[in-house]
Amino acid sequence: MQQIWTALSAHHEGVKSRPILDLFDAERAAGFSARLGGMLFDYSKTNIDAEARGLLIDLAEAAGVAEKREAMFSGAKINETEGRAVLHTALRNMDRPVMVDGKDVTPALRETHARMQAFVRDVREGRFVGQGGAITDVVNIGIGGSDLGPAMAWLALQPYADGPRCHFVSNVDGAHIHDTLRGLNPETTLVIVASKTFTTIETMTNAETARRWMAEKVSDPAAQFAAVSTAADKTAAFGIDASRVFGFEDWVGGRYSMWGPIGLALMLGVGPEAFDDFLAGGAAMDAHFREAPFAQNLPVLLALVGIWHNQICGHATRAVLPYDQRLSRLPAYLQQLEMESNGKRVAMDGSDLALNSGPVVWGEPGTNGQHAFYQLIHQGTRTVPCEFLVAREGHEPDLAHQHLLLVANCLAQSEALLRGRSLEEATAIMAKKGLVGAELERQARHRVFPGNRPSTTLAYPQLTPHVLGQIIALYEHRVFVEGVILGINSYDQWGVELGKELAVALQPILEGKESAEGKDGSTRQLVEFLTS
Ligand code: F6P
Repeated sequence: MQQIWTALSAHHEGVKSRPILDLFDAERAAGFSARLGGMLFDYSKTNIDAEARGLLIDLAEAAGVAEKREAMFSGAKINETEGRAVLHTALRNMDRPVMVDGKDVTPALRETHARMQAFVRDVREGRFVGQGGAITDVVNIGIGGSDLGPAMAWLALQPYADGPRCHFVSNVDGAHIHDTLRGLNPETTLVIVASKTFTTIETMTNAETARRWMAEKVSDPAAQFAAVSTAADKTAAFGIDASRVFGFEDWVGGRYSMWGPIGLALMLGVGPEAFDDFLAGGAAMDAHFREAPFAQNLPVLLALVGIWHNQICGHATRAVLPYDQRLSRLPAYLQQLEMESNGKRVAMDGSDLALNSGPVVWGEPGTNGQHAFYQLIHQGTRTVPCEFLVAREGHEPDLAHQHLLLVANCLAQSEALLRGRSLEEATAIMAKKGLVGAELERQARHRVFPGNRPSTTLAYPQLTPHVLGQIIALYEHRVFVEGVILGINSYDQWGVELGKELAVALQPILEGKESAEGKDGSTRQLVEFLTS
Protein backbone atom coordinates (compact mmCIF):
# COMPACT_ATOMS: atom_id res chain seq x y z
CA MET A 1 0.00 0.00 0.00
CA GLN A 2 2.86 2.32 0.82
CA GLN A 3 3.85 2.37 -2.84
CA ILE A 4 0.37 3.49 -3.83
CA TRP A 5 0.34 6.26 -1.21
CA THR A 6 3.72 7.41 -2.50
CA ALA A 7 2.53 7.34 -6.10
CA LEU A 8 -0.58 9.32 -5.15
CA SER A 9 1.47 11.96 -3.35
CA ALA A 10 3.83 12.23 -6.30
CA HIS A 11 0.93 12.54 -8.69
CA HIS A 12 -0.63 15.22 -6.52
CA GLU A 13 2.64 17.17 -6.47
CA GLY A 14 2.62 17.14 -10.24
CA VAL A 15 -0.98 18.30 -10.69
CA LYS A 16 -1.71 20.43 -7.65
CA SER A 17 -1.49 23.75 -9.43
CA ARG A 18 -3.33 22.55 -12.54
CA PRO A 19 -6.66 24.36 -13.01
CA ILE A 20 -9.47 21.87 -12.49
CA LEU A 21 -11.26 23.67 -15.30
CA ASP A 22 -8.61 22.40 -17.72
CA LEU A 23 -9.82 18.85 -17.10
CA PHE A 24 -13.18 19.61 -18.69
CA ASP A 25 -13.28 18.00 -22.10
CA ALA A 26 -16.55 16.67 -23.53
CA GLU A 27 -16.37 13.52 -21.38
CA ARG A 28 -15.20 14.94 -18.08
CA ALA A 29 -18.57 15.47 -16.36
CA ALA A 30 -20.06 12.10 -17.27
CA GLY A 31 -16.79 10.25 -16.78
CA PHE A 32 -16.28 11.58 -13.27
CA SER A 33 -19.80 10.94 -12.05
CA ALA A 34 -21.68 7.88 -10.86
CA ARG A 35 -25.37 7.15 -10.64
CA LEU A 36 -27.68 5.01 -8.59
CA GLY A 37 -31.27 5.01 -9.78
CA GLY A 38 -32.27 8.65 -9.89
CA MET A 39 -29.26 9.81 -7.88
CA LEU A 40 -26.20 11.46 -9.42
CA PHE A 41 -22.85 11.90 -7.69
CA ASP A 42 -20.70 14.37 -9.64
CA TYR A 43 -17.06 14.64 -8.57
CA SER A 44 -15.82 16.16 -11.81
CA LYS A 45 -15.17 19.52 -10.12
CA THR A 46 -12.20 18.03 -8.23
CA ASN A 47 -8.62 17.70 -9.33
CA ILE A 48 -8.97 13.92 -9.55
CA ASP A 49 -8.01 12.75 -13.02
CA ALA A 50 -7.99 9.26 -14.48
CA GLU A 51 -4.56 8.49 -13.06
CA ALA A 52 -5.47 9.69 -9.57
CA ARG A 53 -8.71 7.74 -9.68
CA GLY A 54 -6.89 4.62 -10.80
CA LEU A 55 -4.43 4.93 -7.93
CA LEU A 56 -7.19 5.62 -5.42
CA ILE A 57 -9.04 2.52 -6.58
CA ASP A 58 -5.78 0.55 -6.28
CA LEU A 59 -5.59 1.85 -2.72
CA ALA A 60 -9.10 0.62 -1.92
CA GLU A 61 -8.28 -2.76 -3.43
CA ALA A 62 -4.96 -3.07 -1.63
CA ALA A 63 -6.62 -2.12 1.68
CA GLY A 64 -9.03 -5.04 1.23
CA VAL A 65 -12.20 -2.95 1.05
CA ALA A 66 -14.09 -5.69 -0.82
CA GLU A 67 -13.16 -8.44 1.64
CA LYS A 68 -13.77 -6.27 4.69
CA ARG A 69 -17.09 -5.11 3.26
CA GLU A 70 -18.22 -8.73 2.99
CA ALA A 71 -16.91 -9.43 6.47
CA MET A 72 -19.05 -6.58 7.79
CA PHE A 73 -22.20 -7.68 5.97
CA SER A 74 -21.77 -11.28 7.03
CA GLY A 75 -21.50 -10.53 10.75
CA ALA A 76 -17.75 -10.95 11.34
CA LYS A 77 -16.47 -9.14 14.45
CA ILE A 78 -14.78 -6.31 12.61
CA ASN A 79 -15.07 -4.00 15.64
CA GLU A 80 -11.98 -5.63 17.06
CA THR A 81 -11.39 -3.41 20.07
CA GLU A 82 -14.82 -4.27 21.43
CA GLY A 83 -15.07 -7.77 19.96
CA ARG A 84 -18.31 -6.97 18.17
CA ALA A 85 -19.90 -7.46 14.78
CA VAL A 86 -21.06 -4.35 12.91
CA LEU A 87 -24.52 -5.07 11.62
CA HIS A 88 -26.59 -1.95 11.26
CA THR A 89 -27.11 -3.14 7.67
CA ALA A 90 -29.15 -6.07 9.01
CA LEU A 91 -31.67 -3.60 10.47
CA ARG A 92 -32.67 -2.52 6.97
CA ASN A 93 -32.52 -5.93 5.34
CA MET A 94 -34.11 -8.30 7.80
CA ASP A 95 -34.88 -11.04 5.27
CA ARG A 96 -31.29 -12.03 4.62
CA PRO A 97 -30.03 -14.35 7.37
CA VAL A 98 -26.95 -13.09 9.20
CA MET A 99 -25.11 -15.26 11.68
CA VAL A 100 -23.49 -13.90 14.83
CA ASP A 101 -21.89 -16.47 17.13
CA GLY A 102 -23.54 -19.23 15.12
CA LYS A 103 -27.06 -17.80 15.37
CA ASP A 104 -29.21 -16.06 12.78
CA VAL A 105 -29.97 -12.66 14.28
CA THR A 106 -32.68 -11.64 11.82
CA PRO A 107 -35.74 -13.38 13.39
CA ALA A 108 -35.26 -11.24 16.52
CA LEU A 109 -34.87 -8.12 14.37
CA ARG A 110 -38.11 -8.89 12.54
CA GLU A 111 -39.91 -9.50 15.80
CA THR A 112 -38.77 -6.18 17.30
CA HIS A 113 -39.62 -4.36 14.08
CA ALA A 114 -43.12 -5.87 14.11
CA ARG A 115 -43.55 -4.87 17.78
CA MET A 116 -42.47 -1.33 16.94
CA GLN A 117 -44.95 -1.19 14.09
CA ALA A 118 -47.78 -2.49 16.27
CA PHE A 119 -47.01 0.03 19.01
CA VAL A 120 -46.73 2.86 16.51
CA ARG A 121 -50.06 1.95 14.95
CA ASP A 122 -51.65 1.75 18.40
CA VAL A 123 -50.42 5.26 19.19
CA ARG A 124 -51.25 6.76 15.81
CA GLU A 125 -54.68 5.12 15.65
CA GLY A 126 -55.63 5.99 19.22
CA ARG A 127 -55.56 2.55 20.85
CA PHE A 128 -52.64 3.55 23.03
CA VAL A 129 -53.60 6.83 24.68
CA GLY A 130 -52.22 9.13 27.33
CA GLN A 131 -54.02 9.72 30.60
CA GLY A 132 -55.62 12.80 29.04
CA GLY A 133 -56.42 11.44 25.59
CA ALA A 134 -54.72 10.61 22.30
CA ILE A 135 -50.96 11.11 22.14
CA THR A 136 -50.25 14.47 20.52
CA ASP A 137 -46.52 14.74 21.22
CA VAL A 138 -43.55 12.43 21.51
CA VAL A 139 -40.42 13.48 23.38
CA ASN A 140 -37.33 11.46 22.51
CA ILE A 141 -34.72 11.73 25.24
CA GLY A 142 -31.33 10.58 24.02
CA ILE A 143 -27.98 11.96 22.96
CA GLY A 144 -25.39 11.32 20.23
CA GLY A 145 -26.47 8.38 18.14
CA SER A 146 -29.66 8.07 20.18
CA ASP A 147 -30.70 11.57 19.11
CA LEU A 148 -28.96 12.92 16.02
CA GLY A 149 -30.26 10.36 13.51
CA PRO A 150 -33.98 10.47 14.34
CA ALA A 151 -33.83 14.24 15.02
CA MET A 152 -32.19 14.85 11.64
CA ALA A 153 -34.63 12.56 9.84
CA TRP A 154 -37.69 14.04 11.58
CA LEU A 155 -36.81 17.42 10.06
CA ALA A 156 -35.86 15.87 6.73
CA LEU A 157 -39.17 14.05 6.40
CA GLN A 158 -41.55 16.79 7.47
CA PRO A 159 -43.67 16.40 4.31
CA TYR A 160 -44.42 12.85 5.54
CA ALA A 161 -45.09 13.80 9.17
CA ASP A 162 -48.69 12.81 9.81
CA GLY A 163 -48.55 11.47 13.36
CA PRO A 164 -47.80 13.01 16.73
CA ARG A 165 -45.30 15.89 16.81
CA CYS A 166 -41.80 14.75 17.74
CA HIS A 167 -39.41 16.63 19.99
CA PHE A 168 -35.83 15.73 20.79
CA VAL A 169 -34.08 16.47 24.05
CA SER A 170 -30.39 15.70 24.29
CA ASN A 171 -28.40 18.28 26.26
CA VAL A 172 -27.94 17.88 29.99
CA ASP A 173 -28.39 21.65 30.12
CA GLY A 174 -31.73 21.91 31.87
CA ALA A 175 -32.67 24.64 29.43
CA HIS A 176 -33.16 22.03 26.73
CA ILE A 177 -35.73 19.90 28.50
CA HIS A 178 -37.31 22.93 30.14
CA ASP A 179 -37.91 24.70 26.85
CA THR A 180 -39.13 21.51 25.20
CA LEU A 181 -41.61 20.45 27.86
CA ARG A 182 -42.87 23.98 28.49
CA GLY A 183 -45.35 23.89 25.62
CA LEU A 184 -46.48 20.29 26.09
CA ASN A 185 -49.34 18.62 27.90
CA PRO A 186 -48.06 15.74 30.08
CA GLU A 187 -51.40 13.98 29.76
CA THR A 188 -51.03 13.54 26.01
CA THR A 189 -47.26 13.20 25.74
CA LEU A 190 -45.30 10.00 25.23
CA VAL A 191 -41.68 10.03 26.42
CA ILE A 192 -39.16 7.71 24.81
CA VAL A 193 -35.94 7.17 26.71
CA ALA A 194 -33.48 6.24 24.00
CA SER A 195 -30.10 5.01 25.14
CA LYS A 196 -28.13 2.05 23.92
CA THR A 197 -26.45 1.64 27.31
CA PHE A 198 -29.17 3.22 29.49
CA THR A 199 -26.38 4.70 31.60
CA THR A 200 -25.61 7.94 29.74
CA ILE A 201 -25.73 10.67 32.35
CA GLU A 202 -27.39 13.28 30.15
CA THR A 203 -30.18 10.93 29.10
CA MET A 204 -30.83 9.46 32.52
CA THR A 205 -30.89 12.92 34.12
CA ASN A 206 -33.34 14.23 31.53
CA ALA A 207 -35.46 11.08 31.84
CA GLU A 208 -35.80 11.66 35.59
CA THR A 209 -36.75 15.29 34.96
CA ALA A 210 -39.37 14.23 32.42
CA ARG A 211 -40.79 11.69 34.87
CA ARG A 212 -41.13 14.34 37.57
CA TRP A 213 -42.80 16.70 35.05
CA MET A 214 -45.21 13.96 34.03
CA ALA A 215 -45.93 12.99 37.66
CA GLU A 216 -47.21 16.48 38.42
CA LYS A 217 -50.23 15.89 36.18
CA VAL A 218 -50.49 12.17 35.59
CA SER A 219 -51.13 9.45 38.15
CA ASP A 220 -49.06 6.76 36.42
CA PRO A 221 -46.18 8.49 34.61
CA ALA A 222 -44.35 5.26 33.75
CA ALA A 223 -47.35 4.24 31.63
CA GLN A 224 -46.49 7.07 29.23
CA PHE A 225 -42.86 6.11 28.92
CA ALA A 226 -41.26 3.82 26.37
CA ALA A 227 -37.62 2.81 26.17
CA VAL A 228 -35.16 1.89 23.48
CA SER A 229 -32.02 0.16 24.69
CA THR A 230 -29.76 -2.86 24.68
CA ALA A 231 -30.08 -3.04 28.49
CA ALA A 232 -33.44 -4.64 29.38
CA ASP A 233 -32.50 -4.93 33.07
CA LYS A 234 -31.91 -1.19 33.31
CA THR A 235 -35.12 -0.21 31.50
CA ALA A 236 -37.03 -2.47 33.91
CA ALA A 237 -35.28 -0.87 36.89
CA PHE A 238 -36.37 2.53 35.57
CA GLY A 239 -39.95 1.23 35.73
CA ILE A 240 -40.83 0.98 32.06
CA ASP A 241 -43.07 -1.93 31.21
CA ALA A 242 -41.42 -4.53 28.97
CA SER A 243 -44.25 -4.19 26.44
CA ARG A 244 -42.95 -0.70 25.64
CA VAL A 245 -39.27 -1.59 25.64
CA PHE A 246 -37.64 -2.12 22.25
CA GLY A 247 -34.28 -3.79 22.42
CA PHE A 248 -31.34 -4.08 20.11
CA GLU A 249 -27.97 -5.75 20.22
CA ASP A 250 -24.55 -4.32 20.95
CA TRP A 251 -23.48 -4.95 17.34
CA VAL A 252 -25.47 -1.88 16.33
CA GLY A 253 -23.20 1.11 16.92
CA GLY A 254 -24.91 4.13 18.48
CA ARG A 255 -24.25 6.41 15.50
CA TYR A 256 -25.47 3.70 13.12
CA SER A 257 -28.62 2.89 15.04
CA MET A 258 -31.41 5.02 13.59
CA TRP A 259 -32.60 2.16 11.37
CA GLY A 260 -33.83 0.11 14.31
CA PRO A 261 -35.60 0.90 17.59
CA ILE A 262 -33.66 4.18 17.97
CA GLY A 263 -35.85 5.28 15.05
CA LEU A 264 -39.02 4.74 17.12
CA ALA A 265 -39.83 8.46 17.44
CA LEU A 266 -39.37 8.86 13.69
CA MET A 267 -41.65 5.91 12.99
CA LEU A 268 -44.27 7.42 15.29
CA GLY A 269 -44.03 10.72 13.48
CA VAL A 270 -44.03 9.59 9.86
CA GLY A 271 -45.70 6.18 10.15
CA PRO A 272 -44.49 2.62 9.59
CA GLU A 273 -44.84 2.75 5.80
CA ALA A 274 -42.62 5.82 5.38
CA PHE A 275 -40.18 4.33 7.87
CA ASP A 276 -40.02 1.13 5.80
CA ASP A 277 -39.38 3.22 2.68
CA PHE A 278 -36.46 4.78 4.53
CA LEU A 279 -35.14 1.28 5.35
CA ALA A 280 -35.61 0.22 1.73
CA GLY A 281 -33.56 3.20 0.57
CA GLY A 282 -30.75 2.18 2.92
CA ALA A 283 -30.98 -1.43 1.68
CA ALA A 284 -30.82 -0.25 -1.95
CA MET A 285 -27.58 1.60 -1.17
CA ASP A 286 -26.25 -1.52 0.58
CA ALA A 287 -26.92 -3.63 -2.53
CA HIS A 288 -25.23 -1.03 -4.72
CA PHE A 289 -22.25 -0.84 -2.35
CA ARG A 290 -21.83 -4.63 -2.46
CA GLU A 291 -22.33 -5.04 -6.19
CA ALA A 292 -21.14 -2.01 -8.15
CA PRO A 293 -17.55 -1.95 -9.40
CA PHE A 294 -15.44 0.52 -7.44
CA ALA A 295 -15.29 2.99 -10.33
CA GLN A 296 -19.11 3.22 -10.28
CA ASN A 297 -19.65 2.67 -6.58
CA LEU A 298 -21.02 5.78 -4.86
CA PRO A 299 -19.81 5.07 -1.31
CA VAL A 300 -16.38 3.98 -2.56
CA LEU A 301 -16.04 7.06 -4.77
CA LEU A 302 -17.22 9.41 -2.02
CA ALA A 303 -14.62 7.85 0.27
CA LEU A 304 -11.86 8.08 -2.34
CA VAL A 305 -12.64 11.75 -2.93
CA GLY A 306 -12.43 12.20 0.84
CA ILE A 307 -9.06 10.43 1.04
CA TRP A 308 -7.74 12.48 -1.89
CA HIS A 309 -8.71 15.77 -0.29
CA ASN A 310 -7.73 14.99 3.28
CA GLN A 311 -4.83 12.55 3.30
CA ILE A 312 -3.32 13.43 -0.10
CA CYS A 313 -4.04 17.15 -0.60
CA GLY A 314 -3.91 17.89 3.13
CA HIS A 315 -7.24 19.72 3.44
CA ALA A 316 -8.16 19.25 7.09
CA THR A 317 -11.87 19.95 6.89
CA ARG A 318 -14.78 19.29 4.59
CA ALA A 319 -17.97 21.26 4.39
CA VAL A 320 -21.30 19.51 3.93
CA LEU A 321 -23.65 21.98 2.27
CA PRO A 322 -27.17 20.70 1.71
CA TYR A 323 -29.24 22.97 -0.50
CA ASP A 324 -32.19 21.47 1.24
CA GLN A 325 -33.43 23.23 4.36
CA ARG A 326 -34.91 19.98 5.65
CA LEU A 327 -31.37 18.55 5.81
CA SER A 328 -30.38 21.29 8.22
CA ARG A 329 -29.28 18.73 10.81
CA LEU A 330 -27.39 16.55 8.33
CA PRO A 331 -24.04 18.25 9.03
CA ALA A 332 -24.48 17.68 12.78
CA TYR A 333 -25.48 14.08 12.15
CA LEU A 334 -22.46 13.56 9.90
CA GLN A 335 -20.17 15.15 12.45
CA GLN A 336 -20.87 12.28 14.81
CA LEU A 337 -20.99 9.65 12.08
CA GLU A 338 -17.68 10.66 10.54
CA MET A 339 -15.70 12.22 13.37
CA GLU A 340 -16.62 9.71 16.08
CA SER A 341 -15.90 6.91 13.60
CA ASN A 342 -12.71 8.04 11.92
CA GLY A 343 -11.25 10.63 14.30
CA LYS A 344 -8.60 8.24 15.62
CA ARG A 345 -4.82 8.43 15.86
CA VAL A 346 -4.19 4.76 16.48
CA ALA A 347 -4.55 2.03 13.87
CA MET A 348 -6.49 -1.20 14.45
CA ASP A 349 -3.25 -2.98 15.48
CA GLY A 350 -2.43 -0.34 18.12
CA SER A 351 0.30 1.38 16.11
CA ASP A 352 0.34 5.13 15.51
CA LEU A 353 -1.58 6.13 12.40
CA ALA A 354 0.91 7.03 9.68
CA LEU A 355 -1.59 9.38 8.04
CA ASN A 356 -4.01 12.06 9.12
CA SER A 357 -7.19 10.73 10.69
CA GLY A 358 -10.56 11.64 9.21
CA PRO A 359 -11.34 15.31 8.57
CA VAL A 360 -13.27 17.91 10.53
CA VAL A 361 -16.79 17.84 9.11
CA TRP A 362 -18.95 20.93 9.31
CA GLY A 363 -21.60 22.80 7.39
CA GLU A 364 -24.97 24.45 7.20
CA PRO A 365 -27.72 24.44 4.61
CA GLY A 366 -27.50 26.65 1.57
CA THR A 367 -28.39 29.34 0.92
CA ASN A 368 -27.98 30.39 4.57
CA GLY A 369 -24.30 29.47 4.64
CA GLN A 370 -23.66 31.75 1.68
CA HIS A 371 -24.45 34.71 3.90
CA ALA A 372 -22.26 33.46 6.70
CA PHE A 373 -19.08 31.51 6.02
CA TYR A 374 -18.80 31.17 2.22
CA GLN A 375 -16.56 34.24 2.24
CA LEU A 376 -13.81 32.08 3.70
CA ILE A 377 -14.56 29.20 1.37
CA HIS A 378 -14.13 31.46 -1.66
CA GLN A 379 -11.37 33.81 -0.57
CA GLY A 380 -9.74 32.40 2.57
CA THR A 381 -6.18 31.15 2.49
CA ARG A 382 -7.17 27.53 3.11
CA THR A 383 -9.01 25.23 0.74
CA VAL A 384 -12.21 23.68 2.06
CA PRO A 385 -13.51 20.86 -0.14
CA CYS A 386 -17.27 21.30 -0.37
CA GLU A 387 -19.93 18.63 -0.66
CA PHE A 388 -23.16 20.01 -2.07
CA LEU A 389 -26.46 18.16 -1.88
CA VAL A 390 -29.50 19.21 -3.84
CA ALA A 391 -32.86 17.80 -4.95
CA ARG A 392 -34.29 18.15 -8.44
CA GLU A 393 -37.70 18.78 -6.93
CA GLY A 394 -39.04 20.17 -3.69
CA HIS A 395 -42.27 19.22 -1.96
CA GLU A 396 -44.02 22.55 -2.52
CA PRO A 397 -45.29 22.67 -6.10
CA ASP A 398 -46.67 26.16 -5.61
CA LEU A 399 -43.18 27.31 -4.60
CA ALA A 400 -41.35 25.67 -7.51
CA HIS A 401 -39.91 29.05 -8.48
CA GLN A 402 -38.17 29.18 -5.10
CA HIS A 403 -36.78 25.73 -5.65
CA LEU A 404 -35.26 26.82 -8.94
CA LEU A 405 -33.67 29.75 -7.18
CA LEU A 406 -32.26 27.33 -4.63
CA VAL A 407 -30.84 25.07 -7.35
CA ALA A 408 -29.39 28.08 -9.20
CA ASN A 409 -27.59 29.12 -6.03
CA CYS A 410 -26.22 25.64 -5.43
CA LEU A 411 -24.86 25.33 -8.97
CA ALA A 412 -23.55 28.90 -8.88
CA GLN A 413 -21.49 28.17 -5.78
CA SER A 414 -19.75 25.11 -7.19
CA GLU A 415 -19.18 26.98 -10.46
CA ALA A 416 -17.71 29.98 -8.62
CA LEU A 417 -15.43 27.70 -6.60
CA LEU A 418 -14.27 26.06 -9.80
CA ARG A 419 -13.82 29.12 -12.00
CA GLY A 420 -13.01 31.89 -9.62
CA ARG A 421 -12.51 35.40 -10.96
CA SER A 422 -9.13 36.56 -12.25
CA LEU A 423 -7.44 39.87 -11.52
CA GLU A 424 -8.06 40.90 -15.15
CA GLU A 425 -11.77 40.20 -14.82
CA ALA A 426 -11.98 41.98 -11.48
CA THR A 427 -10.04 44.94 -12.89
CA ALA A 428 -12.36 45.19 -15.87
CA ILE A 429 -15.41 45.16 -13.58
CA MET A 430 -14.01 47.92 -11.36
CA ALA A 431 -12.77 49.97 -14.30
CA LYS A 432 -16.32 49.96 -15.65
CA LYS A 433 -17.38 51.48 -12.35
CA GLY A 434 -14.99 54.35 -13.01
CA LEU A 435 -12.03 53.43 -10.84
CA VAL A 436 -8.55 54.19 -12.12
CA GLY A 437 -4.91 53.96 -11.12
CA ALA A 438 -3.80 52.64 -7.72
CA GLU A 439 -7.34 52.65 -6.34
CA LEU A 440 -8.50 50.48 -9.27
CA GLU A 441 -5.71 48.01 -8.58
CA ARG A 442 -6.37 47.91 -4.84
CA GLN A 443 -10.12 47.47 -5.21
CA ALA A 444 -9.73 44.87 -7.95
CA ARG A 445 -7.45 42.72 -5.79
CA HIS A 446 -10.17 42.44 -3.13
CA ARG A 447 -12.53 41.12 -5.78
CA VAL A 448 -10.33 38.30 -7.04
CA PHE A 449 -11.52 34.74 -6.44
CA PRO A 450 -8.66 32.25 -6.76
CA GLY A 451 -11.07 29.50 -7.87
CA ASN A 452 -9.77 26.00 -8.48
CA ARG A 453 -11.44 24.95 -5.24
CA PRO A 454 -12.84 21.43 -5.30
CA SER A 455 -16.42 20.39 -4.72
CA THR A 456 -18.72 17.46 -5.30
CA THR A 457 -22.47 17.49 -5.82
CA LEU A 458 -24.92 14.79 -4.85
CA ALA A 459 -28.14 15.41 -6.77
CA TYR A 460 -31.27 13.39 -6.05
CA PRO A 461 -34.84 13.45 -7.33
CA GLN A 462 -36.62 14.55 -4.14
CA LEU A 463 -36.03 14.15 -0.41
CA THR A 464 -38.36 11.19 0.08
CA PRO A 465 -37.93 8.61 2.86
CA HIS A 466 -36.35 6.26 0.31
CA VAL A 467 -33.84 8.86 -0.87
CA LEU A 468 -33.00 9.86 2.70
CA GLY A 469 -32.28 6.19 3.43
CA GLN A 470 -29.97 6.08 0.41
CA ILE A 471 -28.14 9.23 1.48
CA ILE A 472 -27.58 8.07 5.05
CA ALA A 473 -26.41 4.60 4.01
CA LEU A 474 -24.14 6.24 1.42
CA TYR A 475 -22.40 8.25 4.12
CA GLU A 476 -22.22 5.27 6.49
CA HIS A 477 -20.43 3.21 3.86
CA ARG A 478 -18.18 6.13 2.96
CA VAL A 479 -17.03 6.16 6.59
CA PHE A 480 -16.45 2.41 6.43
CA VAL A 481 -14.33 2.63 3.26
CA GLU A 482 -12.27 5.54 4.58
CA GLY A 483 -11.76 3.66 7.85
CA VAL A 484 -10.56 0.53 6.05
CA ILE A 485 -8.14 2.54 3.92
CA LEU A 486 -6.80 4.36 6.97
CA GLY A 487 -6.54 1.06 8.85
CA ILE A 488 -8.59 2.20 11.83
CA ASN A 489 -11.57 0.80 13.71
CA SER A 490 -14.49 3.03 12.74
CA TYR A 491 -16.80 1.42 15.28
CA ASP A 492 -15.42 2.22 18.71
CA GLN A 493 -15.24 5.65 20.40
CA TRP A 494 -12.74 5.55 23.24
CA GLY A 495 -12.05 9.24 22.71
CA VAL A 496 -15.26 10.22 24.46
CA GLU A 497 -14.40 8.47 27.72
CA LEU A 498 -11.86 10.73 29.44
CA GLY A 499 -14.11 13.79 29.50
CA LYS A 500 -16.99 11.71 30.88
CA GLU A 501 -14.81 10.38 33.71
CA LEU A 502 -13.51 13.84 34.59
CA ALA A 503 -17.06 15.25 34.60
CA VAL A 504 -18.08 12.62 37.15
CA ALA A 505 -15.05 13.54 39.27
CA LEU A 506 -15.79 17.27 39.01
CA GLN A 507 -19.38 17.04 40.16
CA PRO A 508 -18.63 16.65 43.91
CA ILE A 509 -16.08 19.45 43.59
CA LEU A 510 -18.72 21.77 42.11
CA GLU A 511 -21.15 20.71 44.84
CA GLY A 512 -18.54 21.74 47.41
CA LYS A 513 -18.25 18.21 48.76
CA GLU A 514 -14.68 17.74 47.63
CA SER A 515 -11.69 20.01 47.19
CA ALA A 516 -10.36 21.10 43.80
CA GLU A 517 -6.83 20.48 45.00
CA GLY A 518 -4.89 18.49 42.45
CA LYS A 519 -6.69 20.17 39.55
CA ASP A 520 -4.72 22.50 37.30
CA GLY A 521 -4.79 26.24 38.02
CA SER A 522 -7.22 27.06 35.22
CA THR A 523 -9.74 24.43 36.29
CA ARG A 524 -9.48 25.59 39.93
CA GLN A 525 -10.07 29.19 38.89
CA LEU A 526 -13.09 28.24 36.80
CA VAL A 527 -14.55 26.09 39.58
CA GLU A 528 -14.21 29.02 41.95
CA PHE A 529 -15.71 31.50 39.50
CA LEU A 530 -18.65 29.28 38.58
CA THR A 531 -19.56 28.31 42.13
CA SER A 532 -19.10 31.62 43.94
O1 F6P B 1 -20.55 9.74 23.94
C1 F6P B 1 -20.43 8.74 23.04
C2 F6P B 1 -21.64 7.87 22.92
O2 F6P B 1 -21.34 6.62 23.44
C3 F6P B 1 -22.07 7.77 21.47
O3 F6P B 1 -21.30 6.89 20.75
C4 F6P B 1 -23.48 7.38 21.61
O4 F6P B 1 -24.18 7.56 20.43
C5 F6P B 1 -23.91 8.31 22.73
O5 F6P B 1 -22.79 8.35 23.59
C6 F6P B 1 -25.14 7.91 23.47
O6 F6P B 1 -25.00 6.66 24.06
P1 F6P B 1 -26.25 5.86 24.59
O7 F6P B 1 -27.14 5.57 23.44
O8 F6P B 1 -25.70 4.61 25.21
O9 F6P B 1 -26.97 6.71 25.60
